[in-house]
Amino acid sequence: MDNRYSFVGGKEGLWQVIDVRGIAGSSLELVKRVNVVNDAVAELPLDSSWVLQSFTSNIRYAMRDEVTALRAVQPVLNRSEAISAVLIPIKKTVQWWEMAQDERRAIFEEESHHTTVGLEYLPGVARRLLHCRDLGEPFDFLTWFEFAPEHTKDFDELLLRMRASKEWEYVEREVEVRLIRDGIL
Ligand code: HEM
Repeated sequence: MDNRYSFVGGKEGLWQVIDVRGIAGSSLELVKRVNVVNDAVAELPLDSSWVLQSFTSNIRYAMRDEVTALRAVQPVLNRSEAISAVLIPIKKTVQWWEMAQDERRAIFEEESHHTTVGLEYLPGVARRLLHCRDLGEPFDFLTWFEFAPEHTKDFDELLLRMRASKEWEYVEREVEVRLIRDGIL
């Protein structure tokens, strides 16, 4: 299965860690590098502090017009100029998961405008949404963003807008791992 992704926090990998910030709930241990592995890494590799497992999946909330709008502007990952990355693991509350799909969608988009707001920051920011709740992981999602360093301010503004939204009232744990790609692609 090539939809599995593991993020190994330790001393190896393309991505050098600049900062690890606990935004809500407990943080992750500060490490030197993150290795993004397109596979399931079941055991913590030697000299590593943590491994977060995840997988890509089908969309849950996006409507046809949103999918079309996203496809028209979203950039690919691994662009040569996009050497800044942010890994944001997120866990949502029991209340969130107890809601029905249509109730969650209403909070996600109609109330919080997640996609509409996010679209304003494309094509500067490339992203990958990964799921992990169904793996019994400590987080529900791993979100990964890549952009050129000149878009850092815009990305910080996007984070402020997201975190001020109704959707974020249902976020109980969030960590921000800031990275720079200094390894060879
Ligand atoms: C860069 C602009 C962004 C765009 C265009 C965007 C777009 C989207 C879309 C379309 C979905 C729904 C996928 C589906 O239908 O299943 C989604 C889900 C999600 N996004 Fe974003 N997003 C952006 C930024 C962010 C940021 C900055 C964060 C975190 C701080 C984030 C966290 C999430 C999470 C956790 C989900 C899953 C929500 C859930 O299923 O409960 N997104 N995003």
